[in-house]
Amino acid sequence: MKALVSNRSIVTRLVNLVCSKSVGGQGGHVKDVPIPTISPDDILVKVKAVALNPTDFKHLDAISPPHSIIGCDYAGVVEQVGSAVKSGWKPGDRVAGAVHGGLFPNKGAFAEYLVVDSDLAWRIPDEMSDTDATTYGVSAVTAMLTLNVRHGLPFVQGDDAALGDEAIFIYAGATSAGLFHIQLAKAAGYRVVTTASPRSFDLVKAYGASAVFNYKSATVAADVIKAYPKISKAVDCFSEGKSTSVCAEVLRNNGGTVITLLPNGKSSVPGVTYDMVVAYTVFGRPFQWLPPVGPKFETRPADREALVRFYKVLPTITHVLKPIPTVKQKEGFEGIFDGLNKLRAGAVAGGK
Ligand SMILES: NC(=O)c1ccc[n+]([C@@H]2O[C@H](COP(=O)([O-])OP(=O)(O)OC[C@H]3O[C@@H](n4cnc5c(N)ncnc54)[C@H](OP(=O)(O)O)[C@@H]3O)[C@@H](O)[C@H]2O)c1
Repeated sequence: MKALVSNRSIVTRLVNLVCSKSVGGQGGHVKDVPIPTISPDDILVKVKAVALNPTDFKHLDAISPPHSIIGCDYAGVVEQVGSAVKSGWKPGDRVAGAVHGGLFPNKGAFAEYLVVDSDLAWRIPDEMSDTDATTYGVSAVTAMLTLNVRHGLPFVQGDDAALGDEAIFIYAGATSAGLFHIQLAKAAGYRVVTTASPRSFDLVKAYGASAVFNYKSATVAADVIKAYPKISKAVDCFSEGKSTSVCAEVLRNNGGTVITLLPNGKSSVPGVTYDMVVAYTVFGRPFQWLPPVGPKFETRPADREALVRFYKVLPTITHVLKPIPTVKQKEGFEGIFDGLNKLRAGAVAGGK
C-alpha cells in the first residue's frame, strides 16, 4: 500500500525542535509499505478520508523517527476483523477515529490501510459523510480527555444537560480543539466563556459559547473576570505566548486548574495549578519522544477506558456534539502535503 512516511534525520529534527522551524523539505514522502497485519483484537480499515492536525506536521518536523507512518484522524471501511474482536465489527462497516500516528512504522492514518484497536473506533452514522466523521479525531478526543477525565465534567449521555450556574473558561474557542471543548462543556451543563478573534465570534457562539472575548485585547482577563467572577476551571486550547497566563488570571478570584495542550509559560497566581494533556495517552500504550533523552509517557488505563466509552456513545450524541467545519483539500497525498503546509503557516482557522 502507499503511505506517507517520515524521513527526517535526528539532526534535522533537533534543529527544527530547537529553532521551532521546518527545515529539510517536507519531512516525509509517499512510499510503498506492507499492508499492516492485524492482531486478534484489531480491525483493518481501508482509509477513505483523513483530517489534518498541527501534531502531524510537528511530528514530521521534530518527532517522527524515519519510516513512521504519519496521520491520526481517519474515516473508512472495515476490511478485516481480528479473531478475538467482540464489538460486532464486520467487513464493510463504516468506521472512524484517531490513532497514534507519527511514531510507528505500522500505524498512521495517511495510508491506504490502517490497523486500529477494535474498541478504539466508532461507527459512523448513516447520514454522516466520511469528511464530517474525520473531525471527531484528535480534537474531539482531546476535549473529552481534558474536560471529562482531567476536569471531571460529567460524560455526555444523550441530550445536553440543563445549563447550570457554573462557567468554564476555554481559551481559543475557534481552534478545532476549542470547538469540541465548547460543545462538550455545554453538553455537561456548563456555561462556556471563550476567547477568539472577531472573525470567529459567530462561529464559537454557533457551537454553544455563552460569551466570547477578543484574545487580542490587553484587558481580556479583567473583562472576563468582571462578567464571570467565579470561574475555577480553564482549558488553554492555544497554549502559546501569554495564553496560559491569561487563563490563570481568569481564575485569580477562586483558584483552580488550567489545563494546557502544550508546555507553556506559567504565571504564579495563588491557588492556580496546571496540568498538561497529551492526547496520545488514550491509546493505552507507553511511548517516548526522541529517545533516549526525550519525554516518556506511561500507560494511563483510565484515559484508554474513557476513549472506549466516548467512541461507544458517540454515534448516539452527534446531534449534541456536532462535526466541526471542514475545508476539503485536493484528493490524495498531494492534498495532505498542501494542507500540512497551511497548518504550518497558521493559515487554518475555524475548523479542519
Ligand atoms: N496536547 C494535545 O494532546 C493536543 C491535542 C490537540 C491539539 N493540540 C495543540 O493545540 C493547538 C491547537 O490545535 P488545533 O488543531 O485545535 O488548532 P487549529 O484548529 O489549527 O487552530 C486554528 C485557530 O487558532 C486560533 N489562533 C491563531 N492564532 C492565535 C493566537 N495568537 N491566539 C489565540 N488563538 C489563535 C485561530 O482562532 P481565531 O479564528 O479566533 O483567531 C484559528 O481559528 C496546536 O498547537 C496543537 O498542536 C495539542
